[in-house]
Amino acid sequence: MLGSGKGSNFVAIAGACAAGTVAAEVALVVSDVAEAGILARARERSIPARFLPPGKFRTKLDEEAERNYIAALRAADVDLVVLAGFMRVLKDSFLQAFAGRIVNIHPSLLPSFPGLAAWEQALAHGVRVTGCTVHFVDVGVDSGPIIGQQTVLVLDDDTTETLHQRIHAAEHALYPRCVAALARGEVTIRGRRVVWRAA
Ligand code: GRF
Repeated sequence: MLGSGKGSNFVAIAGACAAGTVAAEVALVVSDVAEAGILARARERSIPARFLPPGKFRTKLDEEAERNYIAALRAADVDLVVLAGFMRVLKDSFLQAFAGRIVNIHPSLLPSFPGLAAWEQALAHGVRVTGCTVHFVDVGVDSGPIIGQQTVLVLDDDTTETLHQRIHAAEHALYPRCVAALARGEVTIRGRRVVWRAA
């Protein structure tokens, strides 16, 4: 799992793995932020956790960093790369190294409100329903084939904080469900569409 922030989605997925509802294990957590909560949450659970410097750019990994990330994930023999709040765009060579095996969670019902602070975008736009989306990662930003979505109603008295909180809670239910299906081999990509079928 790759993350830059608090790590609450990591906690949800690692918890589901420990409980046996996801038939997988988190082999390694990598962060581009040395003090990220996700690394601390992993270490508390004795899951290998590494800070890998991102290099000289602000929104992506530089070439050397990208090589280090790929090498670390390969050394941990990962089957799936789960992005959980990783704040950098992954470029082509990374995507090719794990083709069709990188997933992300985004706090809106894509394709609405890609990019930063999606809950603020939803509130500003005045939508009555928003939510979260788990999707495969492609070269675009929040644009890959959609694996699963969960809706969240926007309430009249919502603030950005209350809406963000409920979207976060929905993520913690949706992401483990999607990773469980991926681990069972039930999810296949057909062009832009993703099909769930019991293996
Ligand atoms: C989540 O809201 C996710 O949608 C976005 O980054 C946030 C990560 O939160 N991509 P956490 O670090 O898992 O708590």
